[in-house]
Amino acid sequence: MAPFPRAMFARAILGLSILSSAVAFNGGFPYGSEKVRGVNLGGWLVLEPWITPSLFDDTGNAGIVDEWTYGSLQSLTVAEEALTNHWNTWITESDFAAIAAAGLNHVRLPIGYWAFEVGPGEPYIQGQLPYLQKAITWATQNNLKLIIDLHGAPGSQNGFDNSGHRISFPGWHSNATNVQRTDTIIKQIASMVADNYENVPIIAPLNEPAGFDGDAVLSVVRQYWYDSFGNIRYPFGSAQQSNTVELIHDAFQPLSYWDGVLTYPDYEGVAMDTHIYTIFSQAEVEMTQAQHISTVCAKQSSLSSFDLWTIVGEWTPAATDCATYLNGRGIGSRYDGTYPGSTFVGSCTGLTGSASTFSSSYKTFLRQFWEAQVISYEKGQGWIQWTWKAENADEWTYQAGLANGWIPQNPTDLIYPNICG
Ligand SMILES: *[C@@H]1O[C@H](CO)[C@@H](O)[C@H](O)[C@H]1NC(C)=O
Repeated sequence: MAPFPRAMFARAILGLSILSSAVAFNGGFPYGSEKVRGVNLGGWLVLEPWITPSLFDDTGNAGIVDEWTYGSLQSLTVAEEALTNHWNTWITESDFAAIAAAGLNHVRLPIGYWAFEVGPGEPYIQGQLPYLQKAITWATQNNLKLIIDLHGAPGSQNGFDNSGHRISFPGWHSNATNVQRTDTIIKQIASMVADNYENVPIIAPLNEPAGFDGDAVLSVVRQYWYDSFGNIRYPFGSAQQSNTVELIHDAFQPLSYWDGVLTYPDYEGVAMDTHIYTIFSQAEVEMTQAQHISTVCAKQSSLSSFDLWTIVGEWTPAATDCATYLNGRGIGSRYDGTYPGSTFVGSCTGLTGSASTFSSSYKTFLRQFWEAQVISYEKGQGWIQWTWKAENADEWTYQAGLANGWIPQNPTDLIYPNICG
């Protein structure tokens, strides 16, 4: 299908020359000259079992594996009370202050479609929107730029638990109603923040669509990125452009797959999000520490040469999939051979959980791997680590890295500036 975004249409009917917009894009942050340094607020407005295992374990129900089943497989009153308590406590204003104090300039906030609209038969519990508003206020007060990241779409765009619904095959792309519902939500978000672009400079219209499932997904995703351009960049019902950046995702394709998509000068105010993990296959968890480091260092040239601003919007210092429930509640780890079909590489003891169990050599590696990634991702537009905090997986969290010394208080204070050679 031929991409035909609203924006092009608006320009065409008004007879505007596309080339007349050859001025630098004026967004809410100097993208293109200053580096994005940030952290995700994972596990707050979208539940993830591995980030807050206690929320799931406390249900006493092994079938509750995602936010969908959190709503459908237990008493509504119990679920609402637990969720409200979680929303009130997991992230507060003091987290924003600590993130700013750590020298970061962005936070990326995942939210599900169900915060905005729930369809018949969908068991999601609502109530997240006031917390999105609080987050915007707290970001503003702490001089942090907030990225609104639609992390779950109707039908699920990837079937991951972190899309809200863990299912074997995603159901978003194959159902036009689901896509239209998502478009409507993006329009709603875009008009909500259009006048506040200095504090909410970016909307990411869909996290991690399942491009690995092939062209049936990718063709829908591509059209959706074009349609979202219209929705995010033209929220005023006129030919006036917003200053809000659309952050598309590579859908697990090489960046080159997206060559020429939404590029200047036909389009402006578009950035690319890519997620770099080196732990979600048998071959990757078998890598040595040095191989983990060289793998991320090898990303530099594609990040620096891609024609959209490229942000590594998720990555981790973790080099194993050992964190409890990381592969899903009730599912084990490849690293220790407890994941179906995996082969034992080593014991997870001392590699996940509390940093008090980490050896000093492991903490040194976490520092090196962290620095290798920061150095490499700043060859693009910068980075946003996954994630700020987790109950019991310190190797992943920015907060524990700061507290235990493998993340510096100032992200430019590097001990291994030549780690990538
Ligand atoms: C498509 O999704 C909508 C919900 O968005 C649902 O009501 C409808 O039954 C789905 N259609 C098909 C063919 O599955």
